[in-house]
Amino acid sequence: MEIRKFTVVGAGSMGHGIAELALIAGYDVWLNDVAENILKNAKERIGWSLKRLSEKGSIKEDPEKILSRLHLTVSQEEAMKDTDFLIEAVIEDINVKKKVFEKADSLASKDAILASNTSSLPITEIATAVKRPERVVGMHFFNPPVLMQLVEIIKGEKTSEETMKRAYEMGKKLGRDPILVKKDVPGFLVNRILFRVNDISCLLVEKGKADVLEVDASAIYELGFPMGVFLLQDYAGVDVAYLVGKAMGERGFKAYECKAFEQLYKAKNLGVKTGKGFYSYPEPNKFVKP
Ligand code: 3HC
Repeated sequence: MEIRKFTVVGAGSMGHGIAELALIAGYDVWLNDVAENILKNAKERIGWSLKRLSEKGSIKEDPEKILSRLHLTVSQEEAMKDTDFLIEAVIEDINVKKKVFEKADSLASKDAILASNTSSLPITEIATAVKRPERVVGMHFFNPPVLMQLVEIIKGEKTSEETMKRAYEMGKKLGRDPILVKKDVPGFLVNRILFRVNDISCLLVEKGKADVLEVDASAIYELGFPMGVFLLQDYAGVDVAYLVGKAMGERGFKAYECKAFEQLYKAKNLGVKTGKGFYSYPEPNKFVKP
């Protein structure tokens, strides 16, 4: 099926990166969020990233030309109307996500795929908001989507094989390495592993066996991780880690309830985006390795 219109709902850290991948792949992309300033910020971040990729020769097309395929809108109707492929990347809240899918179901083209970038919420539960759950699928990207190769393609109970195939092919078209997750379990594959690593890291700190920097240093220098465990939470967003852990816990994945995550979340110290998390950053949204 020809994709004439590609929609991304949610223009935050994940949404803007997914939109960038679709732009690079040559699609006309409608990026939607609730406020103009969020969209403006997303466009600036995409522009910056495209420039970096171009300087390194990772993309051949002129960044300005790629950016010209981006359409920003605060109107969900405009973004979703007759779209052929939609990826939702809004906050990790089941009710917010279901509202997006309910609307998308009535506005998208009849053969459109409706995908969710959720990290933790069941695709089966999200799909209850639509009339044709066979076209709802999980496409879980990793932060930052333009540099992280992996994408999980998740099958909900009612997702059709055709939808799985089309989502997998889209993952490939976006230049990623998709893996199929055939069981809709909390945290899918990657976050089930990542949250066990978080658990043990948090316990080491809470029991006074090591501090945050020591845990991160051993993850990098001993285990070969590209980023320390706590730095990664700052980078991806402390709120994301907290909400994802909570959602997984509510659905039966018993993660350790890390007090540090909860304290930072409640104090709105969300990591790079606010300038303070486990580490401090020179200014909000500016990632400088501590
Ligand atoms: N677009 C283009 N280029 C980018 C970029 C972007 N969005 N972000 C960073 N870069 C570039 C930098 O400019 C830099 O370029 P340079 O070498 O020319 O200076 C280069 O990439 C490397 O960046 P840094 O020097 O800042 O840092 P690193 O060498 O550590 O690389 C990283 C950054 C690729 C993010 C690496 O640290 C990494 O792989 N970290 C782990 C990320 C990860 O695990 N993500 C998953 C998070 S979990 C998740 O998303 C799941 C969710 O469900 C919770």
